[in-house]
Amino acid sequence: MTGATAGFGQVAARHMAEAGAQLVVGARGAAGRAPGFAAEMLELDLASLASVRAFAETVAAGPQVGALVCNGGLQFTSLEPTSEGFERTFAVNHLSHYLLIRLLLPVLAPGARVILTGSGTHDPAEKSIVTPPCHAQADWLAFPDRDPNPEKSPRNAGFRAYSSSKLCNIMTARELAVRHPEFSTMAFDPGYVPGTRLGRDNPAWIAWAAGKIIPLTMKRDRTSTVAASGRAHADLALSAAHASERGTYWAMRGGRCIAMAPSALAQDAAACAKLWDDSARLAGL
Ligand SMILES: NC(=O)c1ccc[n+]([C@@H]2O[C@H](COP(=O)([O-])OP(=O)(O)OC[C@H]3O[C@@H](n4cnc5c(N)ncnc54)[C@H](OP(=O)(O)O)[C@@H]3O)[C@@H](O)[C@H]2O)c1
Repeated sequence: MTGATAGFGQVAARHMAEAGAQLVVGARGAAGRAPGFAAEMLELDLASLASVRAFAETVAAGPQVGALVCNGGLQFTSLEPTSEGFERTFAVNHLSHYLLIRLLLPVLAPGARVILTGSGTHDPAEKSIVTPPCHAQADWLAFPDRDPNPEKSPRNAGFRAYSSSKLCNIMTARELAVRHPEFSTMAFDPGYVPGTRLGRDNPAWIAWAAGKIIPLTMKRDRTSTVAASGRAHADLALSAAHASERGTYWAMRGGRCIAMAPSALAQDAAACAKLWDDSARLAGL
């Protein structure tokens, strides 16, 4: 699991550990971290494909993997390249998880589950305050200076990079289900969950508004809690009801986890296949 050291992912991981799952957690500075539940902690920086490769190699040397939970992610207020040259939000939220999935496919147990955390912000119809995506072109997202229609405001560019990366997570889940129907594949929208550290890069006033004002501007059923989204997230990984999913998009709405249709672009099969192939090239596969 990635993204198990904070937010609702930490709650989900605790539920999984309490249910008897043997957790392997990829985290930055893993050696010095106590996650608050029983887990093997391994070093993983999602901003580095080299780190993803090292992590995957260690995991692949162990027992088969019953569930791969890709939850790590951040939301930045500007575009920055990683040390490997990819736009940071795209690299952390999408490309690293794509590579991790591809590298671990050979060691997934029969019927294993793969869960990617997306976000309602991926869908322009949700009318989120986060600038929505306009495409899922991996090359333009990885190298924004190649995008023929770049977002002019730096903050909106950061928001759009985030919503686009979450679109990529959902499209990856759908394409994985097409290419590997032998696994149970899902995307998860936890709803709007105040109180996590997702926007830690934001100025203090945005962080304050995120907790106090933004929930008031949203449709009431879109807001969730760390506890409810963590519980639902764990259920996707554990419950027998989710043993045979084919790229289903599960979303927290009104306190419940329901199956929903993602955005029109996320349902575009050709775009999903292109994203998969382009991501493979970018990740050096
Ligand atoms: N909160 C919301 O309203 C919301 C809504 C929709 C979707 N989501 C998605 O839900 C997921 C979890 O978010 P959250 O709200 O629970 O945020 P959070 O509290 O900030 O948790 C983010 C997790 O991702 C990990 N992470 C971030 N960058 C990493 C990196 N470079 N390498 C390894 N791990 C890294 C963090 O690890 P560290 O402890 O090392 O920082 C942490 O465990 C994200 O994918 C986010 O996009 C959140």
